[in-house]
This record gives sequence, C-alpha cells and structure tokens, in this order.
Amino acid sequence: MKMDNFSNDKVDIRSLRRKAFNYRWATLEEDVIPLTAADPDFPTAPEIREAISQYCSDGYFSYCPAEGLMDFKIAISQWYFDRYDALCNPEFVLPVNSAAHGLFITSAKILSLGDNAIIPDPVDFLFRKSIEAAGAEVRTCPIDQDTAWQSIDAIEELIDARTRAIFICNPNNPIGKKLPTNFLNELIVLAAKYQLWIVSDEIWADITFGEPTKSILNRELVDYSKKIVVSGLSKNFGLAGLRIGYVICPNQHVFDSIFKSSGHQSTAFGISGLSQMAGAAAFSKAEYWLEEFKVHLTKMRSLTIDFINKTNFLAPVRPDATYLAFPKIINTDLKADELVHLIHQQARVALVPGGKEWFEQHSDGHIRICYATSEELLKEAFERISKVQASKGVF
Ligand SMILES: Cc1ncc(COP(=O)(O)O)c(C=O)c1O
Repeated sequence: MKMDNFSNDKVDIRSLRRKAFNYRWATLEEDVIPLTAADPDFPTAPEIREAISQYCSDGYFSYCPAEGLMDFKIAISQWYFDRYDALCNPEFVLPVNSAAHGLFITSAKILSLGDNAIIPDPVDFLFRKSIEAAGAEVRTCPIDQDTAWQSIDAIEELIDARTRAIFICNPNNPIGKKLPTNFLNELIVLAAKYQLWIVSDEIWADITFGEPTKSILNRELVDYSKKIVVSGLSKNFGLAGLRIGYVICPNQHVFDSIFKSSGHQSTAFGISGLSQMAGAAAFSKAEYWLEEFKVHLTKMRSLTIDFINKTNFLAPVRPDATYLAFPKIINTDLKADELVHLIHQQARVALVPGGKEWFEQHSDGHIRICYATSEELLKEAFERISKVQASKGVF
C-alpha cells in the first residue's frame, strides 16, 4: 500500500498556520508543535477536494432541502450498513452542521427542564454542555480507564424518575477506548427496563486498531427502539472546518421531532450543501484514504505508547481507538495544567490537560496527546519533551 498521503512533506505548516485554530497551529507561537485539538495535520482525501471543486464549478449555491441532501443521507446509511452491519433508513438520517450541533438538538428534544441524563466520566465536554443547555441535570458515572467498562449497577443507581437518557461515547474521547459488546447489550437492557434513550456518540467509530467499533445500531446487539446515533466527519476525514455531522434516528416519529428541534425548517440553522457533497464523496469514494490514514496512525500510536512508557512521569496506556492517548501523571506533584504549561514553555509542545472543564472530574491528573501528525513531527515533539525532562528534571 502506498503511504504518501501521510508523509511529512504532506503536512503543509504554512496552510495550517492560517487555517488550523482551536489550540492548534494558527493560535500558537511559531516554534510550538501542537498535539492538542483532535484534528489531523494532513490534507483531506483528493476525492473530497475534487467533489468540493465540482460543487463550486457552476457557481450555484442555492438553498438545500431542510431535511438534508438525499445523496449524503444515502451515503451515511450505506456506510453504516457496510462497516457496522447496521440497517438505517436514509429517510431517518438528519445531516446537521456538526456532531456538536447533533448533540445539542438531540438533547433539546429528549430532555426537559428538571430531567437528568447519565454520562460517562471521563468524556468530552459536549455531553455536559448539550444536556445543560436543554435545562437538564448531568449525572456522571465513572469509567474504568483500562477497560472502558462502566458498572451497569453503578449506572442503575443513578437512575430516578426524572432520568431520560444515557449518553455513551464509543470510542471514548479522551481515553481512546471502544466499548465492549457485552457492556452495550447490558446497557440496552437497562435502558429498556426504564424506557430511557440511549444517545451514542460515534464520531470516533472509524478510527480503531484491531477489532472495529460495535455501533449501538449493529444488528447483533439487543434490539431497542430508543437508540439515537450522533456522529460526524471531523475525525475520520479531517473535515472539522466544514461543520458536518448527522443524527441517525430509529423511526419517522423521532426523525420528525429531532428535525423540528433542529431549526432547519426556519433556515436559521442547517448544514451547507457544500459540506454535504463533501461528506457524500468521503463515504462513497475515500474509504481507501481512511484505511491508509489508519495504517499511519497505527505507527503513530506505537510511537506514542513507547514515549509514554519510557517517561517516568506518565503511566502506561493502551488506547485501541481514536488518535488520542490519555495517560495519568505519576511521580510528580504537578497538576495537569501545570505540567502542560511547563511542557509548553520549556519543550515548545502544546498538549491538553485533563480536568472538569474539558473531560469531567475523573480526567483530573491526566494529559491528552493527539498523535494525528507526521512521524517526524511526533518524534520531534517527544524528543523535545524527553530532552527537557533529562536536562532539567522538571517533571
Ligand atoms: C466525542 C466527540 N463528539 C463530538 C465532537 C464534535 O465534533 P464536531 O466537529 O462534528 O462538532 C468531538 C470533537 O472532538 C468529539 O470528540
């Protein structure tokens, strides 16, 4: 397999300095290597760029259907069938302007003031933001960070008369792990017992090492009519700036009500036609690119694990999905934000600290490393950190 889409010369730092925001190249000092926001350093697949150029070529940028372009909806449904053995009717797929927005409109629909929803801890901050924006209370349930397992009993203890939903992030950002099949089945049975929604954020599902992710919609799992998938193309195809995501609903009724909560009909919200054509091209023409990306990431994951294992200030980890590693800080009294600050100042490498602001309470005392970059840049970043550690012994 040719790997030239992921060589160091494909990382165009001049473009990234103009375009990559959110704690990355465009927002940092020129000598800093960002291993921060989960956004790849590589240009997206040529087929996606071609589809974008073609869409622009006739000069029309008219309104699109509020329910989403059928080409994109079909491509999503086909992707879920081919990769996740999941049957989803394209009519029940709602393209939205990001997975983030998908979480907000889903929460707005299924939660009301005074309700509560259960989320894993650690997890990305968008769960809390979307649940609280709906006026509901967040109840966190800790994850065993080695196995990605949550105790079903512990989840059940959190359920009361105002609980409406259980959110899962599969694979999990930040810990980089897939949820086991047994857990998913037990969770579905639990949700069915209390008639709760399961909202499964699967934006990382395509980035796995070894076994693929088991989508909550997989046909082998226990059947249940209150499963909703939220996902997007920021991680698998590096399209974060196009703001492109989708919500997969179980039936027409749920689709209609989430569609209503989306604000698409009023045109106040919605996803651009350009993004949808890019998304359709990604799913129908660029799977090979994603597979190459994963081969590259497999190597970057090994480099990252080796680096973590060799330091004496980070505990070993073994992520099996995402392009993130989330080691615990050990052998130092430094807090995560202090360590991240020191590494930034002295090694000129930017990382993300754990802590409630980003990933809930149980992420305290960890740092997150994003390794979706070239081998050369990743090695350089790790060498810089190791050198500072060896020469100054500051962490
Ligand atoms: C678990 C999870 N969900 C949602 C998002 C947001 O994705 P989008 O760029 O589509 O809003 C992210 C981005 O990091 C994420 O990690």
